[in-house]
Amino acid sequence: MARKGTDDTNVHTMDNLGLVKLEFLLKQAIRQMEQGRIAQAAGRIDAARQHYLQAAEYLFKAADRSQGPIREKRIELAQGLLEQAEELERRAAAPAGERRDRSGPLPAGQAEETSWLVAERPAVRFDDVAGLEAVKEQVMLKLIYPFVYPDQAERFGIRRGGGILLYGPPGTGKTLIARAVAGEVDAPFYTVKPSEIMSKWVGEAEQNVQRLFAAARSAPRAVIFIDEVESLLTRRRSTLSTVMKRLVPQFLAELEGFEEKEGALLFVGATNEPWDLDPAVLRPGRFDEKVYVPLPDQAARRRILELNLRGRPLAADVDLDRLAESLAGYSGADIVNICGKACAIPFVEAVKQGVDRDVMVADFAQVMAAVKPSVDEKEVRKYEKFRFGE
Ligand SMILES: Nc1ncnc2c1ncn2[C@@H]1O[C@H](COP(=O)(O)OP(=O)(O)OP(=O)(O)O)[C@@H](O)[C@H]1O
Ligand SMILES: [Mg+2]
Repeated sequence: MARKGTDDTNVHTMDNLGLVKLEFLLKQAIRQMEQGRIAQAAGRIDAARQHYLQAAEYLFKAADRSQGPIREKRIELAQGLLEQAEELERRAAAPAGERRDRSGPLPAGQAEETSWLVAERPAVRFDDVAGLEAVKEQVMLKLIYPFVYPDQAERFGIRRGGGILLYGPPGTGKTLIARAVAGEVDAPFYTVKPSEIMSKWVGEAEQNVQRLFAAARSAPRAVIFIDEVESLLTRRRSTLSTVMKRLVPQFLAELEGFEEKEGALLFVGATNEPWDLDPAVLRPGRFDEKVYVPLPDQAARRRILELNLRGRPLAADVDLDRLAESLAGYSGADIVNICGKACAIPFVEAVKQGVDRDVMVADFAQVMAAVKPSVDEKEVRKYEKFRFGE
């Protein structure tokens, strides 16, 4: 009798363990898929592919522990993910001229000496950036046309290279457009974050700044992206740490040094706090142009939806124009996030209950009720005031 009792307990424990394991697998699958979507939206194709493969693996394992129609559904979803990963692989392997993703370190020689310094080769292009036509035109004029049409540039005495400063609220595509610049001119992309200079470059900040610019100069052309530029080139110098105080003149000198090399280097700065910038950063040869990156308008919101919902099963009641209207006030990053969350609702139903349906307006409405715009109107007004007050 006693033995039987023990066995029962074991059976129960096993069952529970099995369920816990299944829950875990499904959670991981959903997480990996979400990360894949986010990576894909940001143009990190190779990372997206890895996430989809992981998600598929978790789903196959989950299918192994399931029976009946739900098992079939999980296998089907996993195979769909494998196909998506393969499609991304084909894109990554596409011949020159087509989009490709070569994110990862530079060839060994360059990477070795400066292992902290990793250049990315973004696959994103201007087509992946919704709206922001005026911004794109500025970037084209300053940073891209002179490279694509060097003869005309020379004929009209247009200087190649130089810098552009992007400012605006968070999540509006500043980093994305900077990466797209590198994608458009097929150049390595280096990111400098002042907050990382403090944490990662301790004791070696000056040498590292030098190495960064030297590495970028050694490429036929390169893009250097300085994020959070207001914390480096700030009007409130007194708030700078001693390290930063030493670095500022060095940065300015390096930026100005760009001119000497026939503009093979482009630099893009980004900030959420343009009012904190030292006006001196806008001198020619530093950042010669300052461009506002606003929240997306109706057309841009529609395009962001299109880009992010491409290939996903939409119910007949999803009208992208109407959905874009209802998303007024949300940033591009918010919209990507909302799309991911809305699609996760039917996905979870499919995986957990074997329900087969498309993503509906109600899913978007449910997510939007919970996710407020990350930038409020008061903040938007502050940017507009700064923009026109100049
Ligand atoms: N105009 C846009 N077109 C397409 N996608 C966009 C756009 N704006 C934002 N996104 C989406 O939001 C993500 C985040 O945007 P990004 O990182 O470029 O914002 P940011 O302006 O650099 O924000 P922050 O000021 O916080 O650094 C992008 O990877 C992209 O998926
Ligand atoms: Mg950014």
